[in-house]
Amino acid sequence: MKKLMFFAVAFALLISCGQQEQKSEMDTFISDLMSQMTVQEKIGQLNLVTPGGGILTGSVVSTDVENKIKTGRVGGIFGIYGPENLRQAQQMAVEESRLGIPMIFGADVIHGYKTTFPIPLGISASWDMELIEKTARIAAQEATADGIFWNFSPMVDIARDPRWGRVAEGAGEDPFLGSRVSEAMVRGYQQDDLTRENTMMSTVKHMALYGASEAGRDYNTVDMSRNRMFNDYMPPYKAAVDAGVGCVMTSFNDVDGIPASGNRWLLTELLRDDWGFEGFVVSDYTSINEMIAHGMGDLQTVSALALKAGLDMDMVGEGFLTTLEKSLEEGKVTEAEIDLACRRVLEAKYKLGLFEDPYRYFDALRPEKKILTAENRQAAREVAARSFVLLKNDNKFLPLKKSGTVALIGPLADNKNNMLGTWAPTGDPQLSVPVLDGIKNVAGDAVSVLYAKGANISDDPVFAAKVNVFGTRIDIDERSPEVMLREAVNTARRADVVVAVVGEATEMSGESGNRTNLDVPESQKKLIRALAETGKPLVLVLMAGRPLTIEEEVELADAILLTWHPGVEAGNAIADVLFGNYNPSGKLTMTFPRNVGQIPIYYAHRNTGRPQAGDEFEKFKTNYLDSPNSPLFSFGYGLSYTTFEYSDVSLSKTTISANETLEAKVTVTNTGEYDGEEVVQLYIRDVVTSITRPVKELKGFQKISLKAGESKEVSFTLSEEDLKFYNYDLDFVAEPGEFVVFIGTSSDEVKEARFVLE
Ligand code: NOJ
Repeated sequence: MKKLMFFAVAFALLISCGQQEQKSEMDTFISDLMSQMTVQEKIGQLNLVTPGGGILTGSVVSTDVENKIKTGRVGGIFGIYGPENLRQAQQMAVEESRLGIPMIFGADVIHGYKTTFPIPLGISASWDMELIEKTARIAAQEATADGIFWNFSPMVDIARDPRWGRVAEGAGEDPFLGSRVSEAMVRGYQQDDLTRENTMMSTVKHMALYGASEAGRDYNTVDMSRNRMFNDYMPPYKAAVDAGVGCVMTSFNDVDGIPASGNRWLLTELLRDDWGFEGFVVSDYTSINEMIAHGMGDLQTVSALALKAGLDMDMVGEGFLTTLEKSLEEGKVTEAEIDLACRRVLEAKYKLGLFEDPYRYFDALRPEKKILTAENRQAAREVAARSFVLLKNDNKFLPLKKSGTVALIGPLADNKNNMLGTWAPTGDPQLSVPVLDGIKNVAGDAVSVLYAKGANISDDPVFAAKVNVFGTRIDIDERSPEVMLREAVNTARRADVVVAVVGEATEMSGESGNRTNLDVPESQKKLIRALAETGKPLVLVLMAGRPLTIEEEVELADAILLTWHPGVEAGNAIADVLFGNYNPSGKLTMTFPRNVGQIPIYYAHRNTGRPQAGDEFEKFKTNYLDSPNSPLFSFGYGLSYTTFEYSDVSLSKTTISANETLEAKVTVTNTGEYDGEEVVQLYIRDVVTSITRPVKELKGFQKISLKAGESKEVSFTLSEEDLKFYNYDLDFVAEPGEFVVFIGTSSDEVKEARFVLE
């Protein structure tokens, strides 16, 4: 044993010596290179441009790019694709600039590259970390095949306000789940080896607190206590750093009164000094310049502020490029500060192997072999099916039988333009499978399918114009709403069952896709009401980029399958689930409110001094006169075609000391008729604490698969580490005392037991 230990230690030392050697080789190389660089060239490395031409991801584009590259004034480019284009651009830098420093090429590969997976909020609802990692791995394989090796993903902003359109891009409301997703994505993209041809450098974003923009309005101000920041909002960024993420992107909002892009406490003290981040920090799109509007000074001042704060690369705004030299001359920044930022950017290029071979990612033969392969599309189909959440299934109405007549109705039923979801700039909507095709593929000739559009996504042309910025998402039919509705009702009457595919167009969520009204648009509400009135069994397939307020629809429909925006294999995956080829297993990662007035609403809230036990109104308790407190669907909720029963929670000990662990166990039984998967969730509550703490916090989950009739024991190990939180002094501690452990099928359906930490 001792011998084994010796070898293990020796091996670890060897590895760390190896790493140190590599690091010192890198340091020497970069020092040598930097000694040949002029100040202008160093500043050039800090400049990230986008020449436009693809889908715009911000409101301005860079100009005069070619000339800037050749004169050493560009460190990286994003938003151009394909080995040939990128090779040409790289040649300009390598062959025509004075020092030939290669550029770094980035892109927003948010939920798949060309093989588009469901929106990230949907992917998170799978609660399947291996699967999530696989989506990132496939995205990296495809993106690198197309020449992109730096990704602006994952977006890990905790989001508790569904009015904010960008909730679609993250993993929802919970810091524990969000952290697991964050690590899985970074692992998937980077695979612990950035020099491989099929891995890409990942960027965690947006540091920090972007999801807490006031009133759910994008880019809005954020004001938050350090207690909430550290306990609820920071963990997923930190998880990415711990997983070795190469880059961090700043956010547009202010953090404690200072915009993130100029916040030294955030970007240096916390990120680097406390968390040990060693990569480089990139701004968001013109976020340095936007500090002018925040009231932080003119372009020169805010650019100096950003550099001094620890921001290394300026996305599009060119504040660094145009003002840093002047600031240096005037003593407002130091050359050491410019050097530090430049070194960090060069280090990233070194780690990516660009100095060995600047063209390593530009193999013209790879795209065809690696992109949108049958295997990748199959993965997209599987991921999509696993992201769906069955919200309602009265009388076990679903799965549908593969016989009879189905009326497939709704503006999203035979639609390619809205399947990919928001923020899929590299995907091609025309390659996606509409639901109508998917149903025909899966159900075959045994089912006769009737189709009617029934309604526009929205009848409002002004609203449609705002949503249609990246192409037609809402197409307003030439026929009148009344004519379409009549056709739909007649179609429904001729069928055994009605499947209505309704919800949001993709760009009704995403960046700058905020809403104050989270209802299904009125045109579709009318359709749903009319379909319900036919008396035919009604299944809603609900597409959305966020939680919607669907109380009325829950009343009217027999079954509701929430499919988010499912990606390129949308129709096939939806049909797989509707017809029972896959039994749905997704669980919500964001609470569904009953109405907008309840927002923000999330399960891990703290108690008030006047809690109200149920939904029954009590005077002088915390509540509303016109709405219950409870959400429509809580975090962790999601049905299956089968049913699961939970035993009581058993604990291996009722008291643990600081260095002990305890096992919390339940037996879960599949009591229904279908094989199925269940996400078993463990929450804790710290009963007495020095600062107010949530009534329940997720601390573990396991996705298990059970055959019909089968039982499994599920065991979680808890240690002091799981009980820690940031206290008033922001020390990460566990406080002795009583804890409740809850295990169950969702955050509001659990069984509990208690133990004491000594
Ligand atoms: C702005 C977005 O906030 C960010 O997420 C994205 O990576 C950049 N634009 C670049 O497209």
